[in-house]
Amino acid sequence: MRVTAFIGSARIKHTYNATEQFLQKLQALGDVEYEIVRLSDYKLETCKGCKLCLDKGEELCPLKDNRDKLIDRMINSDGVIFASPNYSFQVSALMKIFLDRLGFLFHRPRFFGKTFTSIVSQGIYGGKDIVKYFNFIGNALGFNVIKGSCITTREPMIEKEQKKSEGNMG
Ligand SMILES: Cc1cc2nc3c(=O)[nH]c(=O)nc-3n(C[C@H](O)[C@H](O)[C@H](O)COP(=O)(O)O)c2cc1C
Repeated sequence: MRVTAFIGSARIKHTYNATEQFLQKLQALGDVEYEIVRLSDYKLETCKGCKLCLDKGEELCPLKDNRDKLIDRMINSDGVIFASPNYSFQVSALMKIFLDRLGFLFHRPRFFGKTFTSIVSQGIYGGKDIVKYFNFIGNALGFNVIKGSCITTREPMIEKEQKKSEGNMG
């Protein structure tokens, strides 16, 4: 089976690494090929709210970006992962721009029979609600949803906490 993960962090750190580990473990369980898509590598315009996609058809969207390329990646996958850092108790802006570009699909879901899960990376707090949000998003897009997971990175840490954490490790 083919699994594609969409990463909503612009850096290759916690969200990316957690997702890669997840995919490697999944691959070890069976016949899985995977691709990691960093949303920051794609052109995604901010939705202007004209609603042409909703009222008349998504092909009339005036924004010229990589929306359809990313949707094709989802169509060509058996499993999809949305992964985001917790930014201000929500998904990152990068992930939200992507979700807004998929807005019309909540009205015309098309991912029936495919599996979805999510991964959230948080510094300290609030990630569980983002996982719930992703569960809702997956369902609304028509996927079979496997409840997502949240990892805690304790970042950013103040200097005192950093030293304590390093002391505990040694
Ligand atoms: C702008 C910004 C806002 C953040 N807001 C939160 C937050 O509300 N709650 C939290 O626990 N962590 C918050 N964090 C910490 C990140 O979620 C955490 O460092 C995460 O692991 C970063 O993932 P990344 O390495 O993939 O970028 C925030 C980080 C940034 C840069």
